[in-house]
Amino acid sequence: MTAADPRTIYLSDYQPYSHLLEQVELCFHLDPAATRVKARLHMAPNPLRPGKQDVRLDGEGLKLISCAVNGEALNVVPDATGLSIAAARLPSGAFVLETEVEIAPEDNTALEGLYMSNGMYCTQCEAEGFRKITFYPDRPDVMTRFKVRIEGDLPVLLSNGNPVAQGADWAEWDDPWPKPAYLFALVAGDLVNFPDHFTTMSGREVALNIWVRPGDEGRCAWGMASLKAAMLWDEQVYGREYDLDIFNIVAVDDFNMGAMENKGLNIFNSKAVLASADTATDDDFARVESIIAHEYFHNWTGNRITCRDWFQLCLKEGLTVYRDQQFSSDLRSAPVKRIQDVLALRARQFREDGGPLAHPVRPDHYIEINNFYTATVYEKGAEVIGMLRRLVGDADYARALDLYFARHDGQAATIEDWLAVFAEVSGRDLTQFKLWYTQAGTPVLKVSEDWADGRYTLTLEQENPPTPGQPEKAPKLIPVAIGLIGPNGDEVVPTQLLEFGEAKHSYVYDGLGARPVASILRGFSAPVIVERSVSIEDRAFLLAHDSDAFNRWEAGRTLGKELLARMITEAAEPLPEFLAAMEALAFDDTLEPAYRALALRLPSEDDMAATLFAAGHVPDPAAIHAARDALHLAMAQQMRPRLAALESAMHVPGAYSPDAASAGKRALRLGVLGLLARLDGGSAAREAYYDASNMTESFGALAILLEIGEGSTVLADFEEKFQDDRLVMDKWFAVQVACAKPEAMADVVRDLTQHRGFDIKNPNRFRAVFGAMAANHAGFHEADGAGYDLLADWLIKLDLLNPQTAARMSTGFESWPRYDIDRQEMMRAALERILASKGLSRDLGEMAARMLAR
Ligand code: BES
Ligand code: ZN
Repeated sequence: MTAADPRTIYLSDYQPYSHLLEQVELCFHLDPAATRVKARLHMAPNPLRPGKQDVRLDGEGLKLISCAVNGEALNVVPDATGLSIAAARLPSGAFVLETEVEIAPEDNTALEGLYMSNGMYCTQCEAEGFRKITFYPDRPDVMTRFKVRIEGDLPVLLSNGNPVAQGADWAEWDDPWPKPAYLFALVAGDLVNFPDHFTTMSGREVALNIWVRPGDEGRCAWGMASLKAAMLWDEQVYGREYDLDIFNIVAVDDFNMGAMENKGLNIFNSKAVLASADTATDDDFARVESIIAHEYFHNWTGNRITCRDWFQLCLKEGLTVYRDQQFSSDLRSAPVKRIQDVLALRARQFREDGGPLAHPVRPDHYIEINNFYTATVYEKGAEVIGMLRRLVGDADYARALDLYFARHDGQAATIEDWLAVFAEVSGRDLTQFKLWYTQAGTPVLKVSEDWADGRYTLTLEQENPPTPGQPEKAPKLIPVAIGLIGPNGDEVVPTQLLEFGEAKHSYVYDGLGARPVASILRGFSAPVIVERSVSIEDRAFLLAHDSDAFNRWEAGRTLGKELLARMITEAAEPLPEFLAAMEALAFDDTLEPAYRALALRLPSEDDMAATLFAAGHVPDPAAIHAARDALHLAMAQQMRPRLAALESAMHVPGAYSPDAASAGKRALRLGVLGLLARLDGGSAAREAYYDASNMTESFGALAILLEIGEGSTVLADFEEKFQDDRLVMDKWFAVQVACAKPEAMADVVRDLTQHRGFDIKNPNRFRAVFGAMAANHAGFHEADGAGYDLLADWLIKLDLLNPQTAARMSTGFESWPRYDIDRQEMMRAALERILASKGLSRDLGEMAARMLAR
């Protein structure tokens, strides 16, 4: 177990830092091979740590040039992780500690700390990258004001806060807001900007800029519009105003994550900010909008109020994801957004929670914190906030947030602080609720029903499955939103919230004239797995009548899953009732197209594997693939006479606009084209490709053609058109792997790694190939184990260059316990091979060890 590893860090060991940092001055003299960093730390004893304390500074890979205290040189020798200065060598009271170090940004392939991307300098400091820049107490509870001077022969020199002075080859920045080191940023390069401005609610004028490489100016307008929308929304919905004179965003091609919320200087993976009609799909546009909002929202939830330690990561990430989800929901369609979020939660978080990597929303130990930026911390962390809000109500939610901002502004806070404001405003005891933060695993909600003499009885039971290190668990408080529907489709009991907190409880509804059909877990009111046996008639009834849009979709989804499961395990035929219900939904013009498009999407193969495993079967990837394929074909045949008409009805005429309504139509049209391709050999999709006037249509059509094995001409055409466009070529790489026939996937991957455009050092390109591979369920799990070997080979190679991305991509193996013994052994062998590899990082090492549970 990882818990025994001597490098393990425990929440229970938390201690405040020995000193307070009153201010820090940094001076950078930039050079690709030998950047010099001078730091002046104004330190004082921390009254919370009585007695004279040693100073311990974090530092990794730094060449120490000099060190001085109050101007007097000090002879110190750093160790592998930092620098210690004994209390005896320090003056009593406050002092200034100065260091100068040398670093080589051009050699930094880990993309953490100060590194270079296409000739541009940039930084990534969260979580613990600042220690690769200078010696410093690199922990989020040490907050201070930063003054930064940058010297370098480049036209644009940026850092946090407000610009204070600049000359030919230098610039000075001053950030008035105390912040932890992980929010520090520096950018220097030959950049052009896309400027705009925003007036805040109190009348402050803020200059807004998106900085990009020359040539990318034409892809900034959407990001800028999204930023302004986010700024306005945070004022209107949360009363939060921006607090500097300038807000800069920079697009970087080489970036491990999506984007980073550095104070006043957000740094973005270019794929998360650049968007234009001919290079980005509707999904890309929506994603840019939400990531820009997410990073902007961190200015309050993360920056003004930060985390006391990294165990509290969900304090900023769960809350900020919750806020960005709300934002997208307000700007677009709320039901569609909820369905998309639940799909993502199930695909990533339930998968994580059900395997060897399961951990609580607030973990209590880790080896490498970068491994805990997970779907559990993020998405389940956001669900927990949604539950809290349902429990206390909208008014108390707003009051709790106001209190949180007022009380903790400028502080590094904890989940206890967060829950305390809710307990205070609502008068509730949240002790049981807190289990959502400390217990891992997805609860199973078992539903049984009884109807007799006008009385409907609903019995709920919860099971909290064992997870690594947590064999047994107490029941959680689960908010279950339910409604009862009468035979004519009317709500006989409108939505109410059951606060279910026991292992088992029955709820009785008397005086009903006829047997109701219950709609349970409306809006997906809690992140649980519902087990309930419902007749096909009742599911079809809910699909037709549920007033809750989420549950209406869910009824079709569950029906589809149950049917697929029977097709796989009992060779059942596609059920006519299901096909008819799907057809009714797809052609129901009272429903928005985006919703209908989602309804047409069958459960993923990975989802089916999880479902079968939970039901006690050993999932056979090839059988799942075949059944899903057969059901898709049956749907196409069912709807055959009407598909062409729907396809043309969903054409969006005129110039491209990324708005939700147009995007919804395009999504439904592509869903229909996918069905048509099963019947016409792809002729309609091919036509759509050549007629396309935007990336959504051309890329969507390309994927459909590849799925049916008819994509090669179009694929070559696409490459020819976009060969010089890095972001579009990422799509080209990914789609071939994702849509490859299972037996051909490994060869496709091998060929792509030989392609001149493949670059192991670029995380987007690596993810395009190997992320798509793990997403091709049947291909990755081909019986010969070729997929497993390939992933292991490349993770081992990548780990030597970029441990963080290698570790994240290793989750391709996290579901190994679901499969048959042969596959299990092959996956375990791949993980063992990783563990034994030379130069293995802490990042990938921890992941492999946890997956192997040792
Ligand atoms: N703070 C993170 C970025 C980050 C993550 C830095 C891990 C270092 C290590 C940022 O706010 C974030 O959460 N970004 C997400 C996108 C967001 C929309 C969920 C990302 O990069 O994927
Ligand atoms: Zn975030």
